Amino acid sequence: MDWDRRLFDSLIPLPDGTSYNAYLINGSEKVALLDTIDPSMTYVLMGQLKDVPKIDYIVVHHVEQDHSGSVPFVLEKYKDAKVIISSRGKDMLIDHLLVPEERIITVNDGETLSLGDKTLKFIYTPWVHWPETMATYLVEDMILFTCDFFGSHLATNNLYANDKDRVYESAKRYYAEIMMPFRATIKNNIEKINAYEISIIAPSHGPIYNEPSFIIDAYKDWISDTPKNIVVIPYISMHNSTKQMVEYFIDSLTNRNVYVERFDLSAVDLGKLAMSLVDAATIVIGTPTVLAGPHPNVVYAAHLCNALRPKLKFASIIGSYGWGGKTVEYIEGMLSNLKVEVLKPVICKGLPREENLKALDDLAELISEKHRGLSI
Ligand code: FEO
Repeated sequence: MDWDRRLFDSLIPLPDGTSYNAYLINGSEKVALLDTIDPSMTYVLMGQLKDVPKIDYIVVHHVEQDHSGSVPFVLEKYKDAKVIISSRGKDMLIDHLLVPEERIITVNDGETLSLGDKTLKFIYTPWVHWPETMATYLVEDMILFTCDFFGSHLATNNLYANDKDRVYESAKRYYAEIMMPFRATIKNNIEKINAYEISIIAPSHGPIYNEPSFIIDAYKDWISDTPKNIVVIPYISMHNSTKQMVEYFIDSLTNRNVYVERFDLSAVDLGKLAMSLVDAATIVIGTPTVLAGPHPNVVYAAHLCNALRPKLKFASIIGSYGWGGKTVEYIEGMLSNLKVEVLKPVICKGLPREENLKALDDLAELISEKHRGLSI
């Protein structure tokens, strides 16, 4: 349990900490450890293994170091232990953790491994969220160990996902920040695990799901191609022109029953912005012109949005300038991953005048029409 961690990948905010879940399965003949933990907390795992005399297999579902980082230490303690990993993961594990090749056994998709009275079945689940990712199905207990897939960044000593509202929020944040670019492969992987009877989903971040449908249904909603009647407005303002436009525009959308999520990029939790992008149909970016282009905070947010590849259908830009610049072209060029229709931007010189406000009303009306066209 990493109660105090506040940033992941030096990028992702973790307001509620996180956990790194490793699972020990004692079979009648063999013992397997499923995943390890972040190297910063190796001492915790090694303490928990203090009285475990034997581990035969370390199953690495995913090479990212928050799960595999302690593998070298576990291998050091258990001299006969072997790493079990997907074929794609083998070289990655050697590259990232310098694990000796002779300690690694690769398994194929669907292959099983007997621990005696327990059977592990390995299910490749590629691209959730790296290419080598796989899950393990514990056949006799119908438990699916999914590593990052279905995980949540949430530190809690509530082992199960009973506090549904809280877990939903954390799991959605996790999906938004980590999984969203992989909606197509998530869909394939959900179809794949549908073939299994699952009593418990045990991810390697956050609580365990003893109602698997709770998180599977949430994922189905998040990956669906149908967005919601939401306009996300990330913006920043230097001398209030852009802010005035944003406030007017929000009123105009509100009058048309379009729901708005607004983020002031001078002080935003980018995780919240990412979460709003899970559902939104439209993004309207608000920026002043500075150094001939968009504000650097807007550049950062636009880059993130483009990288996360949300299901957005429409995009536009509103903002202001003093004497010139290429703000619109710059931002449009940054959104090339998004399959969006770009709606005519509204850019004004200095403070917005009557004609600029009218253009904002026209943009709000167009967005409203576009959303109605999607039946949302
Ligand atoms: Fe939890 Fe992709 O690591």
